[in-house]
Amino acid sequence: MSERRVALVTGANRGLGYALAACLGRREFSVVVTARDARDANEAAASLRAHGVAEVEAHQLDVTDPASVFRAFTETQRSFGRLDVLISSAGIAIDRGRDASSSDMEKVRATLETNLLGAWRCAAEAIPLMRENDYGRIVHVSSGMGSLANMTSGSPAYRVSKAALNALTRVLADEVAQDNILVNSASPGVAATRMNYGGEAVSPEEAAEGMIWLATAPDDGPRGGFFQGRSVIPW
Ligand SMILES: NC(=O)c1ccc[n+]([C@@H]2O[C@H](COP(=O)([O-])OP(=O)(O)OC[C@H]3O[C@@H](n4cnc5c(N)ncnc54)[C@H](OP(=O)(O)O)[C@@H]3O)[C@@H](O)[C@H]2O)c1
Repeated sequence: MSERRVALVTGANRGLGYALAACLGRREFSVVVTARDARDANEAAASLRAHGVAEVEAHQLDVTDPASVFRAFTETQRSFGRLDVLISSAGIAIDRGRDASSSDMEKVRATLETNLLGAWRCAAEAIPLMRENDYGRIVHVSSGMGSLANMTSGSPAYRVSKAALNALTRVLADEVAQDNILVNSASPGVAATRMNYGGEAVSPEEAAEGMIWLATAPDDGPRGGFFQGRSVIPW
């Protein structure tokens, strides 16, 4: 079994996922960089190595494809013999400017498939591996747009997918409460990535800081919470 802790990041070829993988690599994690396109995963891993990350492995992982998810987690376990951290960053926002009352249901389905079921599938693969070592940290990259307390119209599929992802965080956090596995949701705020909805954005590295804090939390750290940076935000 690898001496280092092992972290798998989804959607790690660009944006927040890449920044998260880089931050974890600098903190002496072995990093499993995943992307839905194998070539993108390999390129991201090469870039991380070029920036001094010592131990990186790349895997194709499309969160909407159960076989691909299974393969990536199985290969991670085969390579390292452990999985300590999962950050589910893969996400899509494809219904900007839409109304819920006139939604394109294919876009709604695709959004839920990626943002909710994708993260769900990954958690279901990760938790048995984490249980083997009685240690795990799962961070769901959510959004303030998924906050029920502040819910408004616009981007309905995206909002609903992130609200549902937050519900999944609560369910899983309770389910693994006895296993030293901490599950939390994190909003990056507004980050300068391709997805950026507009407004003043921070760098992906800055936005990643709170998620890294959750991914490296001590055993008595937060569980079942919703954070932006290190602050609790309303569900
Ligand atoms: N940027 C913001 O201001 C902001 C705010 C709130 C929440 N977020 C959340 O932050 C997360 C990361 O987004 P980002 O800002 O980094 O945007 P991004 O640059 O658009 O990155 C999205 C990532 O998700 C990947 N992805 C999409 N569908 C996938 C699938 N089926 N399987 C695997 N990977 C898939 C993309 O891969 P491809 O390159 O193959 O498309 C890409 O790597 C998302 O969950 C998003 O909802 C971002």
